Amino acid sequence: IDLQPLNTLAIAARAAYFARVESLEQLREALAFARGRKLPILPLGGGSNIVLTGDYPGLVIHMELHGLSLEETPEGARVNAAAGENWHQLVMHTVERGLGGLENLALIPGKIGAAPIQNIGAYGVELRDSFIDLQAVHIATGELREFSAADCEFGYRDSVFKGRARDRYIITRVRLELSSDWCPRIDYPALGEYFGRREQGGGALTPEEVARAVIAIRNSKLPSPDEIPNAGSFFKNPLVDADLYHSLKKVHPDLVAFAAGERWKLAAAWLIDRAGWRGRRRNAVGVHDRQALVLVNPGRGAGAEVTALAAEIAADVRARFGVELEPEPRYYP
Ligand code: EPU
Repeated sequence: IDLQPLNTLAIAARAAYFARVESLEQLREALAFARGRKLPILPLGGGSNIVLTGDYPGLVIHMELHGLSLEETPEGARVNAAAGENWHQLVMHTVERGLGGLENLALIPGKIGAAPIQNIGAYGVELRDSFIDLQAVHIATGELREFSAADCEFGYRDSVFKGRARDRYIITRVRLELSSDWCPRIDYPALGEYFGRREQGGGALTPEEVARAVIAIRNSKLPSPDEIPNAGSFFKNPLVDADLYHSLKKVHPDLVAFAAGERWKLAAAWLIDRAGWRGRRRNAVGVHDRQALVLVNPGRGAGAEVTALAAEIAADVRARFGVELEPEPRYYP
């Protein structure tokens, strides 16, 4: 099967085996099939955080488990969503009902099941802020297991599913808590500016208004995968120690960074931009002209072109600033 329509970088690649699963039973059958043939597994949601570096030799499992419930509670509301539900649609479903908590995460591509793996985040909010727990299937045995928030070990663009539990579980459902004790979080610079320009007081905002603002800001900077193939931010914002931060800041007073405990989180977009990469093109692939952290694939080049460009950028940033960039999407195989 052709995987090009199933990944947002629009990379052409084939899967040796492919299963579209709509239920837990079908997922278990697919896993048993893979176990019998000792095939590696690639669980595929929206395909918005992967780079296909070649044909996939194992079983691609397209997660199409559906179901979404929203239950009012004395404290607010509880969302119970199956892995195959679209993230942005869930966000809009909640804000249209006046429920706050997810509005800053509007327009993030992908499905619910992938959201906890990298603890999706934007505009000062992360999934973990509303997360209750999730249900996952243990790949080796087919057994179901629950993961509490603590079990997930969430960090910045990180969780246990990228560490110790990597490739061991497939997430099937996620539960979220939305509190009626809501207030808008618009302290992230781009969001604050947006409302500042409109001279609106933060207190009077609704979750839907904040979501609309996030959508407008994202649309102004981030390319829609439907128009220009991409996988969102291609690198994580690097954490550096105070010594490196201060020595960089001395040479580059306009360096963009945020304090993160003892360390500093640098804006990778600034480093890449300052190194002269924004808007540059390398055959089929390139760097987005409005957000240097986003690699684009307008010419629908191979995964190797994308990873070669990423490696070249990372080497240049290392040479210029002494900072290591780590890719955010996962490379397969
Ligand atoms: N900047 C530049 N040049 C650019 C783009 C940005 O110098 O080409 C500077 C900006 O001036 C800004 C700073 O870099 O001061 C940060 O840029 P931005 O606010 O766009 O956010 P980011 O740190 O680049 C992160 C997330 C995004 C998320 C935004 C908004 C990561 C890796 N990326 O980007 O997440 O939408 O913040 O919260 O944490 C994603 O993960 O795929 C993603 C898009």
